[in-house]
Amino acid sequence: MLVDPSGRKFSYLRLSITDVCNFKCVYCLPDGYESTSERDFLSLKEIENTLKAFAYHGIEKVRITGGEPTLRKDFIDVVRAAKSTKGISKVALTTNGFSLEKNIHSWVAAGLDSINISIDSLDPRMFNTITGHDKFQSVMRGVDAALDSGLDSVKINSVLMKQYNEAEFDYFLNFVKKKPVSLRFIELMQTQDNLSFYNKNHVSGQLLKTRLLNEGWSELKRSRLAGPAQEFAHPDYQGRIGLIMPYSKDFCSTCNRLRIESRGRLHLCLFSENGISLREYMNKDTPEELIEELARYIKNKKPTHLLHHGLTGATTNLSMLGG
Ligand code: 5AD
Ligand code: SF4
Repeated sequence: MLVDPSGRKFSYLRLSITDVCNFKCVYCLPDGYESTSERDFLSLKEIENTLKAFAYHGIEKVRITGGEPTLRKDFIDVVRAAKSTKGISKVALTTNGFSLEKNIHSWVAAGLDSINISIDSLDPRMFNTITGHDKFQSVMRGVDAALDSGLDSVKINSVLMKQYNEAEFDYFLNFVKKKPVSLRFIELMQTQDNLSFYNKNHVSGQLLKTRLLNEGWSELKRSRLAGPAQEFAHPDYQGRIGLIMPYSKDFCSTCNRLRIESRGRLHLCLFSENGISLREYMNKDTPEELIEELARYIKNKKPTHLLHHGLTGATTNLSMLGG
């Protein structure tokens, strides 16, 4: 397995396959996607080699991210490639849901196991204000289609923001009363691009946690392949609530994931270095050299990010790394 100097083991890869996105989320791409460099994203062959190399090192779960990963014409082939990689037992997707309603069944047929859908508001007008798209109803029909599609899990990601949707907290709770989804509030993170937005809109995850505990929710034990969320359940609710609190103490101690950017850079942390390009090794006919490079580079992983000191590392916005 890949083990870093702090003794953490890595079983989860977040693989970004494009940084193109068709939404304009206020905290991420408020002016929409603008191409800064060539759209020379990893090819299917490079993706296959990458998956083999990580699986060799004990990665069991891969999450396909973007940008919006489903914009890629060969998205289904990527899902198939991930599912057929020996050692990978779980293929997950993070999507903004714009084509969920239409495509979920073909994604599941290709081998998708679980899905995270970003929905920052339950009010169609606010959804439009946040994403720049009048797609709320379609995304919600997509959630229902996903729940009927045989996936292992359907999760919803919401970023709470003071000036937009913080007041919807109770609606969100009400939503999971009868829907068996896990709704995860992601604490707004500062990136290079969004400093003043962050200052105006950051809502403390710790306060949300206190509210949940006061209202009868109890914290669940984290499973081995789980992402970073702390999960909460309540006897009166079918769904669950998750909190992703990157600013909380000890957030990094349970880190079990690594990230590949859509042009082949490996990032040891969402908020650290520039990453290292492994593309020359991804291109080869076999993954051996990539396997060796991974074993070498993991030694550079630092114990924690420095977000609490306002240091965002090289991350300009999350469309480059998929969160
Ligand atoms: N802070 C918190 N969450 C973010 N996301 C994108 N940018 C940010 C940010 N600055 C979320 C998206 C998506 C997930 C991959 O990351 O809403 O749900
Ligand atoms: Fe696109 Fe996701 Fe960024 Fe929204 S948060 S603009 S859906 S990449």
